Amino acid sequence: MDIVGNTPSAEETILEGTRFVRACLRKPVDRTPVWFLRQAGRYMQEYRDVRKHHTLVEICKQPELAAEVTITAAEKLGVDAAIIFADLLLPLEPMGLPFEFQAGEGPVVHHPVRTAEDVRALRIDRAGDLAYVARAIEKVAAHFGDRLGVIGFCGAPYTLASYMIEGGGSRNYIHTKQMMYGDTPTWRALLDKIFIVLEEYCRLQVQAGADVIQIFDSWVGSLGLEDYRDYAFEASKRLVRAVQQMGVPVIYFGVETAGLLTQMAATGADVIGLDWRQPLDVGWREVGPAHAVQGNLDPITLFAPIEVIELRVKEILRAANGRPGHIFNLGHGIVPQTPVENVQAVVKMVRDFRLENQDA
Ligand code: CP3
Repeated sequence: MDIVGNTPSAEETILEGTRFVRACLRKPVDRTPVWFLRQAGRYMQEYRDVRKHHTLVEICKQPELAAEVTITAAEKLGVDAAIIFADLLLPLEPMGLPFEFQAGEGPVVHHPVRTAEDVRALRIDRAGDLAYVARAIEKVAAHFGDRLGVIGFCGAPYTLASYMIEGGGSRNYIHTKQMMYGDTPTWRALLDKIFIVLEEYCRLQVQAGADVIQIFDSWVGSLGLEDYRDYAFEASKRLVRAVQQMGVPVIYFGVETAGLLTQMAATGADVIGLDWRQPLDVGWREVGPAHAVQGNLDPITLFAPIEVIELRVKEILRAANGRPGHIFNLGHGIVPQTPVENVQAVVKMVRDFRLENQDA
């Protein structure tokens, strides 16, 4: 039977666990779950209204506001999961690295980590300062109950280290790779320290009610396979396993990862996030049948005519072919100018989709 509209119905509670969490675990679902990377953000008027009065970090640090932004976006879209409104860089502050978001420039870390001494100075004992994220998760989980999956998240050690070392976004990751190759013990010490903070941070989120943790290794595609294996993989794998020990599934996501997928899957993550640069079934083959996949519509497709969007959405769903363990998403985050109605239309397309041979 079809499920229409946003209100919970008998069909939605028939299966144990939300369809989102079930899909993460490759259990059968009544239909493919859908949510969007950066689903709460500047493309949405409601978010822009809140942002008029508060900075991004203020929203993150006020659980009431962070929960409101999270809930509003998930409800407006009618998605199957709500990702907590927070930012990848929040753990930098309790580690002793203040940062700010500068308009038009993205994040800026004032004193980037460049030397062994800088790494030694990083603090690992204040992950508890991030409890405001946990408080927001509690509110979101209380609001949705069993209706939606609640996603907590953090950056992967490599991606977080790259922000700490570069001092912001980067094109070539020169300083990061300089430390990686030139002072490998310091590089490893940095990843170890990041791991300690992230493990505690994820534990706070899981205890607060996060059903799933997504680990964003957004910039891991800057590494070739050998470098990923030698310098980044172990730290990610350790974090994936530590979070799984807490009793929740893990989604491990990166972009431009076509050459890394098999190795990324070796972290043991339950779900691997796929970008749009190869067809979903090709990516899934590399990830292997023991993992679910999430993706993989090009976010810029959301600017195309509706027929083109529909064609692409259906291609992805056909490539998944009804196999348990597909979560529909974009291949990367929604960008600010995206028309909200196109995002809503994608939700409807995913909800209404039936494989041709199962139409009857
Ligand atoms: O709805 C959601 O997805 C939840 C909230 C969320 C934000 N950041 C809020 C945010 C999430 C999941 C993130 C993760 C994040 N933050 C990542 C990983 C995801 C990815 O895109 O790969 C990264 C790399 C960051 C770091 C970051 N935060 C950058 C580079 C920027 C600036 C880029 C820009 O678009 O200006 C941010 C800012 C940010 N974080 C915004 C939002 C909604 C946009 C700006 C704002 O309101 O000022």
